[in-house]
This record gives sequence, structure tokens and C-alpha cells, in this order.
Amino acid sequence: MVKRVTAFCGSPRTAGNTETLLRIMLDGAKSKGASIQFRKINTMSIRGCQACEWCNDKSAEFCIQQDDMQTLYQDIRDSDAVIFGTPIYMWQMTGQMKVMLDRLYGLILQNFDSKIGPRKTAMLFTQAASEGSFQAYIDSTVDVFRFLKFDVQNTLVAADTEDPEKIKENKDLMEKAFSIGLSLVDFGNSDDV
Ligand SMILES: Cc1cc2nc3c(=O)[nH]c(=O)nc-3n(C[C@H](O)[C@H](O)[C@H](O)COP(=O)(O)O)c2cc1C
Repeated sequence: MVKRVTAFCGSPRTAGNTETLLRIMLDGAKSKGASIQFRKINTMSIRGCQACEWCNDKSAEFCIQQDDMQTLYQDIRDSDAVIFGTPIYMWQMTGQMKVMLDRLYGLILQNFDSKIGPRKTAMLFTQAASEGSFQAYIDSTVDVFRFLKFDVQNTLVAADTEDPEKIKENKDLMEKAFSIGLSLVDFGNSDDV
């Protein structure tokens, strides 16, 4: 069966570090026969969660707000694996990614069960600072996605990244990104990279 993999990009920069690495991850998945999709959150119209709790007991629907988040809910539901990628802005994910994350609340019921079941997941963080600088934040962010029933199996932290032209010269990073993409389609075991 052809697997479908969707990447969600929290960076506003076109062809920036985050987009470049996400596309390489998707290339890895595609090389194993997956159908791939890239979504740039910045170009979509997504309002923040209004805390109306409408989503709490709707097992087949996600959110009452009819904006572009509806497209992203369908993307997640229809994908076998997903990738969330964001630059670190002010020691955290970008605002664009945080707005999406809050709206992912619509994927779970009041008892925290998932409406769609788990999805194999990889996460990508890009940052100008050195390796390990935001590890506690990254770990807790991965925990939030796991709470939402995303089965996060790989987390790639691309440290020391500013000029997108430079990461293309970082062979090790490119290879790690590609192999994460491969592992999303190989539904066997995979290790953190
Ligand atoms: C508004 C803003 C805030 C940033 N804050 C941080 C930060 O707190 N820590 C850090 O290491 N890098 C920070 N950066 C740098 C980016 O995380 C880094 O350059 C990343 O690779 C950008 O990804 P992109 O090329 O996909 O846009 C910031 C960049 C911007 C534009």
C-alpha cells in the first residue's frame, strides 16, 4: 500500500533551513514509494483556538472554526505519517506553529482519546544556537505532540543554522533528514537520530 506522508512547516521563510530539511525528509519518504505533501502554515489562514470546547465530544469532527485548519485536519487524518518542522524563535516554536498546535486540541476527545488514532511522526527543530541549547523545551514540545497521540519516533535538531545555503553543505544533516524520511515509510523500528 502506498503510504502518504505530510510535512507541516512552521517557518515563514521560503527555501529556508526548515523547509529545506523537511523537503529532504519528504524526498526520503518518496524514495520508498510514499506519496508526499508539503504544507506551509504561514501561507494559510488559521485563527487561534477560541476555547469554546465544541471539539470535546465530537468524535467525527475537529473544530467549529471553518478556516484553513480544516485542510490540515484532513491532511493529518489522511496521512500515514506526518512531520512537524519549526525554527526556534525566541527559545520556542514559531507563532505560526503554536497556533496550529493549539488547534490540534480538536484531534482529541474530552477524555484525551484520539479521534483518529496515532500517526507515525517525526519532528524537526532548526536553531541558530548550538546543539543542546533548547533541549528541555524541545523534549517538552515532543511530549505535547505525544499527548495528542502523535507517535514521535525521530526528532532532528539542526543547530547552528542561519544561512540556508550553508546547510546544503552539511552532508551529515542532509543524510539524517533523508533517513528519517525513509524510516517514516518503513513501518518497522527506528531510532532517534
Ligand atoms: C524572530 C526570530 C527569532 C529567533 N530566535 C531564535 C532563538 O531564540 N534561538 C535560536 O537559536 N535561533 C533563533 N532564531 C534563528 C532561527 O531559529 C534559525 O536561523 C533557523 O534556522 C531559521 O529557520 P528558517 O531558515 O527555516 O527560517 C530566530 C530567528 C528569528 C527570525
